[in-house]
Amino acid sequence: MPESKLPRVGTTIFTVMSRLAAETGAINLGQGFPDFDPPERLRELVARHLAAGHNQYAPMAGLPALCEAIAESGLSRHGWKVDSASEITITAGGTEAIFAAIHAIVHAGEEVILLDPSYDSYGPAAELAGARVKRVPLSLTDFGIDYGRLAEAITPRTRLLVVNTPLNPAGAVLTPADWERIADLVEPHSTFVLSDEVYESLVYDGRRHAGVLSNPRLRERAFAVFSFGKTYNATGWKVGYCIAAPALTAEFRKVHQFLTFAVSTPVQHAISDFMREAPEFPGELAPFYQARRDRFAALMAGSRFRLRPVAGTYFQLVDYSAIADLPDTQFCEELTRKHGVAAIPLSPFCDETPAARLIRFCFAKHDRTLEDAARKLCAV
Ligand SMILES: Cc1ncc(COP(=O)(O)O)c(C=O)c1O
Repeated sequence: MPESKLPRVGTTIFTVMSRLAAETGAINLGQGFPDFDPPERLRELVARHLAAGHNQYAPMAGLPALCEAIAESGLSRHGWKVDSASEITITAGGTEAIFAAIHAIVHAGEEVILLDPSYDSYGPAAELAGARVKRVPLSLTDFGIDYGRLAEAITPRTRLLVVNTPLNPAGAVLTPADWERIADLVEPHSTFVLSDEVYESLVYDGRRHAGVLSNPRLRERAFAVFSFGKTYNATGWKVGYCIAAPALTAEFRKVHQFLTFAVSTPVQHAISDFMREAPEFPGELAPFYQARRDRFAALMAGSRFRLRPVAGTYFQLVDYSAIADLPDTQFCEELTRKHGVAAIPLSPFCDETPAARLIRFCFAKHDRTLEDAARKLCAV
């Protein structure tokens, strides 16, 4: 066997739990994908562009019409001023954008700070770039940033801080005040920021998404990552994008052009048309999923699980300490095998085992699925 470059990486917990759910016939509230299709018109547009012969390589940076639609949408929805030609790159989902941004900016031996719980691709992407990964835990009470610990962790060797808002798996969101505090900490060390905002459209209770691009102090040192998979219920299409200042985008594209070069041409055409035809769609997503969040919470009211507040994403963290004292991965396995509902444990998102008994359910599911799952969970 060759010496592994990622000795600690195995099969992701999402695959493991989805496989177990399939084997046992359990309801899968584990892996984070919606039960809902992309809008019908968007699917029609993909078919139309396939038939119209848009099937060869797209431009490396992305279809100009799509980049323009993204810039227009960013301006009208968030007030972001973004140059479509020099600041936007279309990628193979948020995952490629995260990998390319890390590899564009981090040199071997430099430090990358992750805030745990963190999405599972950040660590391996940083390690493959030769970085030293430092993990700073978020507060387990509200999943806010512990600024004291973050200040201690940042040094002149810290090249990149990775942030995720809305946060998978906890559903917490950052505020403009958080971004100011982050700017205070990164500025003295010339640290860059990678902000994973793939759930930007899923922010609830009248909140507005506060992204890194809204903070002028961070604009020149930030990569912001987005995913059409989340915004259009199309996780299988794997199309996303990265927005960054021109100098950072130039470096980002050097990696992107040798990683994927370009992504699905018909899908880019279709999304570009759809964004112009239905600019209201992303704004309608939050009320849709907020209703699912509330429905699931109401159905779970009679259970022994304690639900944590969810400000964004389509994930619900629940505390199972009133039910069992098992480690979270073992508890998820038991829940799947004995009670027929699959969930995702919190610990794979963290380096240190979290001092709380928490697991994650995905509520982006049909009423019937949520009702059946909740009935089983109320019996636990
Ligand atoms: C926090 C976070 N970042 C990035 C991604 C990856 O996005 P994509 O499916 O567009 O690659 C996901 C997907 O679940 C995610 O939850």
